[in-house]
Amino acid sequence: YEIYLNGMTGAVPRLPTDLTRLEELAEQRLEPGPVGYVAGSAGNGSTARANRAALERRRIVPRMLRDVHERDLSVEVLGRPLPAPLALAPVGVLSIMHPDAESAAARAAAAQGVPYILSSASSTPMEQVAEAMGDAERWFQLYWAKDREVTKSFLNRAKAAGFSTLFVTLDTPLLAWRPRDLDQAYLPFLHGIGTANYFSDPAFQAGLAKPVDEDPNAAVMHFVGMFADPAKTWPDLEFLRENWDGPIVLKGILHPDDARRAVTAGMDGVVVSNHGGRQVAGSVGAADALPRVVEAAGDRLTVLFDGGIRTGDDIFKALALGAEAVLVGRPYAYGLGLDGQAGVEHVIRCLLAELDLTLALSGHAGPATVSTDDLAEETV
Ligand code: FNR
Repeated sequence: YEIYLNGMTGAVPRLPTDLTRLEELAEQRLEPGPVGYVAGSAGNGSTARANRAALERRRIVPRMLRDVHERDLSVEVLGRPLPAPLALAPVGVLSIMHPDAESAAARAAAAQGVPYILSSASSTPMEQVAEAMGDAERWFQLYWAKDREVTKSFLNRAKAAGFSTLFVTLDTPLLAWRPRDLDQAYLPFLHGIGTANYFSDPAFQAGLAKPVDEDPNAAVMHFVGMFADPAKTWPDLEFLRENWDGPIVLKGILHPDDARRAVTAGMDGVVVSNHGGRQVAGSVGAADALPRVVEAAGDRLTVLFDGGIRTGDDIFKALALGAEAVLVGRPYAYGLGLDGQAGVEHVIRCLLAELDLTLALSGHAGPATVSTDDLAEETV
């Protein structure tokens, strides 16, 4: 009601409350290279479209007369109480959107009480982002570098900076074929953006012939060479398990057999995700992959979800398909680009308000009672 009450004095929201419109506004207002990098996806965009289609096709079947006057969105994820089943996905290179970059996004998450997942490829060193967040819940996303010493150093730094949970992204051992970036010949990393965690790292610096400021190009190339490693296999996870004592979540799982392997490898959770359609063109829509992974996981793994979440009802649908919580990516990057920290807070508040109303109007006082029984599937 806050928005309607402000409207009595003629004030309307600074940004659209429909996050699809927010994306359109970002496309109009932001620089073509950066907005193309955020909006873009792999191939001809079929995976990003499949993400949306997999959510759109499922429809909520609301229930009536179930006393929803008192509602509680809170959930427990990986043993941590969260105010709502939502976290900000790791999105790197955010200085292309706003000079305050990841720190502004992290402050917004902290202000709204939702966890922030900091990308390895952030434009700001992890210690600085952690400082901006105070005591708020923060998780660290690892791009698993070729160099073990760098990986170990990242884990130690993340631990020391108060990151509680490790997200290991498995779907990006190489950057995919991304036509929007190719056509503009635009890749933030080659401009040294997204390298802050590496350039500030003693183990990374030890591999350089000259200090970063004396030969930045060589440092960028060193970063590109070690960023990730397509030769990794499941037994390599042992190294991470030995060097991280908190929960470990594998991001980018789509096949139920990979969920089973995650259990065997001693992992705590998975994110069902196709990287927002940015990696495998022609991949299954993330929400279509979710039920089979949930079934394979049983109660042995926490299953989170991302890919195409744009509304509160999308979150409802992901919960109904068995996710414990969802991550949102692009919308908050646009919010940041258009209005800094306030823009990110706007995105979080819109999603949570809409989720709350969707739950209430569908006959649920909270996430716990939502199930596949609440969904119908359109067949056309
Ligand atoms: C990403 N994503 C991502 N994932 C990750 O594990 N580490 C990263 O550094 C990044 N960086 C990144 C940059 C940009 C610009 C985007 C759009 C995405 C993927 C992200 O975490 C998430 O999986 C998707 O964004 C989810 O899909 P939606 O919400 O964008 O549709």
